[in-house]
Amino acid sequence: MAWWPSDYPPLFLTLILVIPLLLFLFRRRNKTSTSNRRRLPPGPPGWPIFGNMFQLGEMPHRTITSLRDKYGPVVWLQIGSINTMAVLSAKAATVLFKNHDHSFADRTITEIMRVHNYEKSSLALAPYGSYWRLIRRLVTIDMLVTKRINDTSSVRRKCVDDLHVWVTKEASKLKKGQGLHVAKFVFLMNFNLLGNLMLSRDLFNPESREASEFFTAMMGIMEWSGHPNVSDLFPWLRWLDPQGLKKKMSRDMGKAIKIASRFVNERIEGKRENKSRDFLDVLLEFQSSGSDEARNITNKDLNIFILEIFLAGSETTSSTIEWALTELLCNRECLVKVKAELGEVVGSSRELEESDIENLPYLQGVVKETFRLHPPIPFLIPRRAIHDTEFMGYFIPKDTQVFVNTWAIGRDPDVWDEPLTFKPERFFGSKTEYKGQHYELIPFGAGRRMCAGVPLAHRVVHLVLGSLLHRFDWELDSHVTPSTMDMRERLGIAMRKLEPLLAVPKLVGS
Ligand code: HEM
Repeated sequence: MAWWPSDYPPLFLTLILVIPLLLFLFRRRNKTSTSNRRRLPPGPPGWPIFGNMFQLGEMPHRTITSLRDKYGPVVWLQIGSINTMAVLSAKAATVLFKNHDHSFADRTITEIMRVHNYEKSSLALAPYGSYWRLIRRLVTIDMLVTKRINDTSSVRRKCVDDLHVWVTKEASKLKKGQGLHVAKFVFLMNFNLLGNLMLSRDLFNPESREASEFFTAMMGIMEWSGHPNVSDLFPWLRWLDPQGLKKKMSRDMGKAIKIASRFVNERIEGKRENKSRDFLDVLLEFQSSGSDEARNITNKDLNIFILEIFLAGSETTSSTIEWALTELLCNRECLVKVKAELGEVVGSSRELEESDIENLPYLQGVVKETFRLHPPIPFLIPRRAIHDTEFMGYFIPKDTQVFVNTWAIGRDPDVWDEPLTFKPERFFGSKTEYKGQHYELIPFGAGRRMCAGVPLAHRVVHLVLGSLLHRFDWELDSHVTPSTMDMRERLGIAMRKLEPLLAVPKLVGS
């Protein structure tokens, strides 16, 4: 039997179209009378029902940035049925994080992240409360703390060596002047790195069926979570799942959770070759400690945690490295300087080590400049107002979605001189860091919900980018020049280059 009630199409259509319209108009009337008393931030007028949805375009971070000249640093948008506040300047971000961090410490949860109750076990999406506090403490104190990260430097070394082998092998197959898809290899390396830190396994491993299935399922999850979903904008469409995204997400997440749970069970049964303590050991030790808090962590939470490490840490890191190499290849004088620094500090007789990073100020400037111009998560993970809040003289109702637009903030002309120029030197003698204290540079966010992986991401980005620059000389693919390079972005789980960077590697000294 068809689900469409064919006997009564006009009635059905009336219900589906008119009821939401009436609800919308009713809510709007109420809202207007409230906002007469309490002022919302300014913003562009929108359409009935759809609001500003059609004005945002393919690259909403850019469109919203362009509203700043007309409406100022705090802009109000109605995206479908979702009230949204966008923060577009370093000054407004400072007020938000210094004075209102708690008020905006919840997350907006998208519809597909509710499948398999993912959002209930997730650290990144958990409501600001006791479960979030517990997992966050475990991650920041027992897993991603500097000492533990130091202890795992050999894992990163091995993954970077593998990357060099893959790149060299692939380069030997290319025609003269043909570039390779750098980000693909960096992504695979990073996937294995996270697999080893979390589970002591290579999870990009074509020889293992289980690993390949996990990899494919995770690719699906990343793909679906990066798609805009109309069900998020119009909650009354949720049951229809018009794009089929929830169905696909449910299938892939179901597979990934099943495989993750097998990994956990094998560990509990003591099946393991490598004996070094990984993130899963930390979680299992805590879970079996018998404390009241430990009882709050279920096996389902463990499985979701495994998935989350890959979702949070893989594309973010590889897209940063892709953008950094792109900028260097378009600004050759910077490429020459960073390679000269690596030659001087590391030399040609050994590999770059993590302990070198602090002695490489130019490389650090390159990374900061990349984060400033190409933050991988341009709106942070959207926050949500826990309660009604007065913010910079405006009334922000409870449940408002908050976009802190780090892409706009990195180009804020009030704090950055020549904001559109790639200039690593601007950080020489400057105290500006991206650790959440300097609100003009917040690629990892700031405040309570700031990225929990900063110490690891900091190491990996410098080590991988520095090693690729130290080991190889790079040229652009012969079909591209700095002036024809396409610098547009594609929004997904992280903000990647729309057209992947193709670059030609040549082993140094060959
Ligand atoms: C270049 C790499 C990375 C970037 C740019 C990045 C960026 C971010 C951003 C913008 C947020 C939201 C912050 C906010 O709302 O204020 C976030 C949250 C988070 N990140 Fe990262 N991230 C990176 C790598 C990693 C890695 C490697 C891990 C772990 C292995 C990680 C784990 C997390 C977690 C768990 C959260 C949620 C924190 C919470 O809600 O309390 N990230 N990240």
